[in-house]
This record gives sequence, structure tokens and C-alpha cells, in this order.
Amino acid sequence: MKSEVDELIYSNRYFALTREELKGQARIQMSAKRFKHVLGVEAAAVRLAEQYGASIEAASIAALCHDMAKEKPDQEMKELIKETGLPSEMIDYGSNIWHGPCAAEIVKREYHLFDEDILNAIRYHTVGRSEMSLLEQVIYVADYIEAGRQFPGVEEARRLADEDLEAAVSFGTQQTLAHLIQTKKKIYPRAVATYNRWVADK
Ligand SMILES: [Fe+2]
Ligand SMILES: [Fe+2]
Repeated sequence: MKSEVDELIYSNRYFALTREELKGQARIQMSAKRFKHVLGVEAAAVRLAEQYGASIEAASIAALCHDMAKEKPDQEMKELIKETGLPSEMIDYGSNIWHGPCAAEIVKREYHLFDEDILNAIRYHTVGRSEMSLLEQVIYVADYIEAGRQFPGVEEARRLADEDLEAAVSFGTQQTLAHLIQTKKKIYPRAVATYNRWVADK
């Protein structure tokens, strides 16, 4: 069945790939389950971009690319972190933290995509950062609420995303941090910066 995003045609202003080619790339880089998640993020991101006035094409591209590094071997990603000069401390925090920044590097190298806003949306999709552009917020929230997500609070997150994108960023950040603390997981310092900007004193 064709969805609304399947009608989307890329303009070539960001890179030379068509949406079908990029989708094909995503499909071969990950498991079927994760690919389904990626398409869910794309659908949610395109909807949010439409609603809040971000570029639909940029939202689609960032969504299709955001988890490109998630299933890459750890060793390969550790080497990429060194080669590209990404902060080496992210190695201690595991793939949850490095897969966004690594995906941005892969996308530059493999697809020659250099739009900084799209790259930032890919880089910061997991942890966010204190200053997030509209597109960054769209991808951050879409990753959290896409139709395949099931966790306590996801309905509330979806409701907030319909009403107020920044409120959804705040909610997702708070829930994520609370979960990390409850499960005694390490917190990447930038996640605290995101929390301070988007949750504290709101
Ligand atoms: Fe991710
Ligand atoms: Fe994701």
C-alpha cells in the first residue's frame, strides 16, 4: 500500500539520491524490524514537518538516515570516531550515543550530503542538545512517537506532538532521563544540557 510519503519526490538540492535509492540504502544497512522503525520515523517526521513548517524533504532524508549506523559493528564505529575526530569519550557510552554522530559521518562520506541542518538532525536525534533547530526537534520527536513505538507515556507524547512540538521535546527528554536514572544507566553529558534547556524550569 502506498502512503503519502511514497509520493514524495526529492529535488536534488541536498544530494543526488532519489528517495527510492535512499530508502534502498536504509533497507540494506539494517534489520527488517529497524527498517520498519525508520519508515515509521519518516512518516511521523513528514507529518510534523508539514504541521510545524519544516522542510518535508529534509525531514524525510534525515529520518531515512538517522539510524544508518545503529547496526554497524562496534569496532568499525570506534574506528570511524577516531578517523573523523568525533569526541573519543563517546566510545565509553556505547552505540546508543555514538550511532547518531556516526550516521552523520557515514551520510557525508557515502551519499555526499552536506546540509548541516539535516546532519545535525541525524547527529542529535538520540540525546538532543540545548539549541535544536525546528528540523532537529522534528526528528527527535518523530523518533520518539513513531507508530511502532510502544511504551508507557507514548500516547501522551503523541498528543503533545500534535499540539506543541517543544512540549513534546520536553516530555520525551524528561521521560528518557528519568528512565536512565531509574535503570542506573550512564548519562551522556550532552543529555544533561538538553534536560537543562528543555525540561528544567519549564
Ligand atoms: Fe537512533
Ligand atoms: Fe530511531
